[in-house]
Amino acid sequence: MARAMAFSPLSLFLVSLYLIIILVANGVHSFGEKKTLKVQKLQAKPQLGPQACLLPESRSENGAIVMEMKYRGHCSTTKHDWNRRLQKQLVFDNLRVRWMQNWIRKLVSGSIEDDVSETQVPLTSGIVLQTLNYIVTVGLGSQNMTVIVDTGSDLTWVQCDPCKSCYGQQGPLFNPSKSPSYQSVLCNSTTCQSLLPATGNSETCENNIPTCNYMVNYGDGSYSNGELGMEHLSFGGISVNNFVFGCGKNNKGLFGGTSGLMGLGRSKLSMISQTDSIFGGIFSYCLPTTEDGASGSLVMGNESSSVFKNVTPIVYTRMILNPQLSTFYVLNLTGINVGGVALQASSLSLGKVIIDSGTVITRLAPSVYKALKAEFSKQFSGFPSASGFSILDTCYNLTGNQEVNVPTIRMYFEDNAEMNVDVTGILYMVKEDASQVCLALASLSDEYEMGIIGNYQQRNQRIVYDIKQSKVGFGGEPCGFS
Ligand SMILES: *[C@@H]1O[C@H](CO)[C@@H](O)[C@H](O)[C@H]1NC(C)=O
Ligand SMILES: *[C@@H]1O[C@H](CO)[C@@H](O)[C@H](O)[C@H]1NC(C)=O
Ligand SMILES: *[C@@H]1O[C@H](CO)[C@@H](O)[C@H](O)[C@H]1NC(C)=O
Ligand SMILES: *[C@@H]1O[C@H](CO)[C@@H](O)[C@H](O)[C@H]1NC(C)=O
Ligand SMILES: *[C@@H]1O[C@H](CO)[C@@H](O)[C@H](O)[C@H]1NC(C)=O
Repeated sequence: MARAMAFSPLSLFLVSLYLIIILVANGVHSFGEKKTLKVQKLQAKPQLGPQACLLPESRSENGAIVMEMKYRGHCSTTKHDWNRRLQKQLVFDNLRVRWMQNWIRKLVSGSIEDDVSETQVPLTSGIVLQTLNYIVTVGLGSQNMTVIVDTGSDLTWVQCDPCKSCYGQQGPLFNPSKSPSYQSVLCNSTTCQSLLPATGNSETCENNIPTCNYMVNYGDGSYSNGELGMEHLSFGGISVNNFVFGCGKNNKGLFGGTSGLMGLGRSKLSMISQTDSIFGGIFSYCLPTTEDGASGSLVMGNESSSVFKNVTPIVYTRMILNPQLSTFYVLNLTGINVGGVALQASSLSLGKVIIDSGTVITRLAPSVYKALKAEFSKQFSGFPSASGFSILDTCYNLTGNQEVNVPTIRMYFEDNAEMNVDVTGILYMVKEDASQVCLALASLSDEYEMGIIGNYQQRNQRIVYDIKQSKVGFGGEPCGFS
């Protein structure tokens, strides 16, 4: 028997009051929505010392491979001026973006005109910089190699012995002559011919030498060249035979301390394409902050969702497939909210964006950035402004503040996928004493350039790349490896 429900007038009154409070609270929640940031978190920098450089590990779990991912600063060999390092990072980040835009323009227009002055920026000698930030450790032949993870390029390479010109790395170089499983890739092979779409540069083959030579530039003046080879690649207890990679004999640039780079782009030579029969063309990552000891993960495998620790469901958006841009992951950005307020920008200026693990700061079309900056400044008020730095033009003096309430930033993609920028990914500390802390997004120089979602804004999210089904998913996740 159902019991008749009886409420006293008082309880009805309390229930209504409760509902009103909830509604009001939610209203406040979505308008001018803010999150508290401990300013000190932005200063978090790796401790130097022998304990700091613990190499990333990997394991196999539920049929997926989970590789620990770390911020590269943890493995720095020398002590640097942190302020200058953060500043240089921005300068080189800008060179990478300028170069990417030139490359895209060239690929899309099919024009062969090559603006050498812009695409080949010489690297000032002696500069140690930090642009491509995240590292993992893999086995190559019988050696362990710590490499930078880059979704904006395809070819994986390591520095090789004998080396004509190598930057300083921790641990020995890869020595192909000591590895019986190493094989050179020959010039007349189709593998050698796939270098052009993968690197933007054709192979160089010399008459009397059968080996295939590669050259890859990263736009900030850094490069690697050498011969293309094949070797066993291993991680988390699995081994990939005949993995094609670059044996770099002449390498320069931003890779300091590491053995080289792992290319996770979309083209045929990338690590994910080469391991497609094992992992089904699916990988995902969670990029940690720079805090001491922070770890994230790179997960390989098409049945890997059980190992994710996402706290919000993963929602997918389709990749926009442009055969000319075969390396990049291009998504359709449909909207941005700042503190719950939707930016008003013409649909023309949202649209296609590249999601990249190797670019630091997100770049938006000038009209979109302008709207974002205006809304952010309106909501983040009451702090003295500070001068801009490099590409960052909205800066504050936060000296003396332990905590600040920062307006949230949410990015929306086609099919209702949503990326909530972590509170540590909204402000960038240029000066360690917090006297110059800037909004960590920037404007492109032209409305028609392609936007880029940089790694600073991707922190603490599970981002899943599914090449087979051409989709990218986002879910909130406090990164960790355990
Ligand atoms: C490589 O790393 C694995 C896993 O950490 C370890 O078991 C192995 O001993 C290392 N090999 C070498 C040659 O250092
Ligand atoms: C490539 O060249 C090698 C010798 O340099 C030869 O043995 C091989 O048959 C050639 N392969 C093709 C596909 O032409
Ligand atoms: C994962 O990929 C492998 C290799 O492509 C395939 O055999 C398997 O069916 C895939 N599993 C799922 C769930 O898609
Ligand atoms: C992006 O998504 C919007 C909304 O669904 C759609 O109108 C627009 O055509 C899409 N843009 C591209 C480049 O596919
Ligand atoms: C920043 O603010 C602090 C405290 O208000 C002040 O002492 C300092 O001079 C300011 N620094 C700059 C560079 O304006």
